[in-house]
Amino acid sequence: MQLPGTGFIWFNGQFVPWADAKVHVATHALHYGTAIFEGIRAYATPKGPAIVGLKEHVDRLFQSCAICEMPIKYSNAAVTEAIVESVRKNGYESCYIRPLAYRGYAQLGVDPTNCPVDLAIATWPHGAHFGDEARAKGVKLGVSSWRRMAPDTHPARAKASANYLNSALVIGEARRHGYDDGIALDVDGFVSEGSGNNVFLVMGGMIHTPSVGSSILSGITRGYVIRLAKERGLEVREERVPREMLYTADEVFVTGTAAEVTPVASVDGRKVGTGSRGPVTTALQNEYLGIVSGKIPDRHGWLSFVRS
Ligand SMILES: Cc1ncc(COP(=O)(O)O)c(C=O)c1O
Repeated sequence: MQLPGTGFIWFNGQFVPWADAKVHVATHALHYGTAIFEGIRAYATPKGPAIVGLKEHVDRLFQSCAICEMPIKYSNAAVTEAIVESVRKNGYESCYIRPLAYRGYAQLGVDPTNCPVDLAIATWPHGAHFGDEARAKGVKLGVSSWRRMAPDTHPARAKASANYLNSALVIGEARRHGYDDGIALDVDGFVSEGSGNNVFLVMGGMIHTPSVGSSILSGITRGYVIRLAKERGLEVREERVPREMLYTADEVFVTGTAAEVTPVASVDGRKVGTGSRGPVTTALQNEYLGIVSGKIPDRHGWLSFVRS
């Protein structure tokens, strides 16, 4: 994602120019990974920019902070308003939104207790994460040699920056091997998730996706897509997914705020199904993209409009 270098960042309660939103090198989070973030998106719609899943994302930010014992000094309502105001103030029709809560500057030493929990909200323009072509043709994934963390090590359900060292290793290895992304297995060897997306398989008209017990981030897009699939009468099983199912699935796709609904063309160099976007993936992708872009009525109340 190319950063603009311009616009305004909400920084501990005030808007500051992009270039001035700086931290000291002795910031606790830089040393020990004590930060929580969210990835949110606003899409251009006929009624102006619409933020997708605003309530769910802000709720998850607070839940992640609760898990990691990082109390945010602003209320849920104040953070929600600051996010909306960030999109408004920067004038973007569509953008990515990155709230970041982190242990700031006070003292160094692993114990974070005396370091403030600072909050910043940055916004920037954002297109298709895997590129426009991938939306139609799919991405190439490889199973990673890096596992997701064991459940009693890092809290996978928290969108904690420290977890993203694992994600960075997964995607770094995958790109080096010529894949678009990696799929990490959980500590028991079952499918967990991609570096920044959840994984779905379609087999015989049924959908399978790893359960929250497989060290996944419980994706908001994952929840939306499960709902859309069930509304279509498809059975969705959240369960342990053995790796080998990736090689026999009719369709595989990934979901995420950035990834949206992206088909998977191959796993480990093995073609998925026919190797092109399958009918279930196509239907769910069209519906998801239709809703977020305002072309299909938002019957679930997923969109928050920025201009009243
Ligand atoms: C590790 C990981 N899993 C899954 C997801 C998908 O989550 P969401 O749909 O809430 O963006 C993300 C994206 O934030 C992620 O980073």
